[in-house]
Amino acid sequence: MARSKDTTTAIDFKLAEDILRRNDRGGYCVPTDGLYPFQWSWDSAITALGWMEFDERRAWQEAETMFAGQWDNGMVPHILFHKDAESYFPGPDVWGSDKKIPSSAISQPPVWATAIRIMYEQASDRTLATEKVLELLPKLVAYHQWWYRERDPGKTGLVCSYHPWESGMDNSPAWDQALAAVPEVDWSYQRRDLGHVDADQRPHKPEYDRYLYLVDFYKRHGFDSQYIYDHCPYKVVDIGIVSILHRASDDLLELCRIAGQDQGVSDLTESTQRTRSAVDRLWSDERQCFLNHNLISGAPIDEVTTATVLPLFGNLANKEQAAAIAELIDSWLDATKVGLSSTHPSSPRYESQRYWRGPVWLHINWMISLGAESYGYPELARRLRNTTRDCVTASGFWEYFDADTSAGCGGDDFTWTAAVALYWLTD
Ligand code: DGY
Repeated sequence: MARSKDTTTAIDFKLAEDILRRNDRGGYCVPTDGLYPFQWSWDSAITALGWMEFDERRAWQEAETMFAGQWDNGMVPHILFHKDAESYFPGPDVWGSDKKIPSSAISQPPVWATAIRIMYEQASDRTLATEKVLELLPKLVAYHQWWYRERDPGKTGLVCSYHPWESGMDNSPAWDQALAAVPEVDWSYQRRDLGHVDADQRPHKPEYDRYLYLVDFYKRHGFDSQYIYDHCPYKVVDIGIVSILHRASDDLLELCRIAGQDQGVSDLTESTQRTRSAVDRLWSDERQCFLNHNLISGAPIDEVTTATVLPLFGNLANKEQAAAIAELIDSWLDATKVGLSSTHPSSPRYESQRYWRGPVWLHINWMISLGAESYGYPELARRLRNTTRDCVTASGFWEYFDADTSAGCGGDDFTWTAAVALYWLTD
């Protein structure tokens, strides 16, 4: 059952600060107690923006703790298992990586460089900000080089993703077909998420069986990048990741310029140019937005989701494409009580409160709003911010919000929801 609190007229920012403090486990925040008891990468980047509003040193720590778990090949894992916790499955034993900080073996949308640039630009403590950026820069460069090198070895300009969890939009209907081709695991397991959240807000078992098959697959093949690229039964071009990576690379290049550092710069510049030339291949005249592509079948994925409009944030749309996307988002917002619903409500697979199949996520609205603003659609940007505010004032700091009712769903007292409120919804 989705939950609504008594409607309030203003956001309680003190409560938002308290949520960050309560979810702090010493240098990193868990997304929410119980359901997600570790450090997640893109959650953590958004969380750092929230900390910036009242504790800059702690904000930088969020990044340091995450990058302490970076793999030697440059990958930043999507989860760092800093401490044991019984309340989550699959834990480090299932992932089976042997790193100094136990971790998952996939990444997540690489929003870090964008967050770090914002933090650097808004920091009051300039000395601290400069010191931290100089420490983080080589790690960020290695991370971006990893994406381009390992996830696009053929230099097509479009990196690929090996797991729905890597998209951060885990249960999006965009992944249904590609995931259906993955075998199910042949061992039994006990899910822990259903002990925290109603089953009608979470993925079904057949999806979990395949999520776990993939986790097993990487482990069985010794995390061998080339083997996984050649044989992984799930391989998609996720336009959300492509867009977030592209914007973050531009932000990273700007940070390198400011710091006077040229290590990796020509490499990254070439990679971003390749993406810019390739992205039109993902445009759909019929849908008037970009589409994800299934690299195994070679087919576009005909599902309009919030990822398919993220090229606005990635600065990857041309003027005409941006205008079409802005119009699409406007009518999309008209169709639900609060927006932007993660899946377009006209989709037969739309479900207003199931994980990534319809609900609203605040950080996605922030990204799309930033994109709308930069393409010259300030009214649309404002509309996105207002509807985001409506979610929080109606229901509080939930993980996500039912697009048809604005009721809170998933985990409560959610870190990135509080962080987005602190960073973006204060006046
Ligand atoms: C989960 O377990 O639902 C997480 O989103 C995986 O990253």
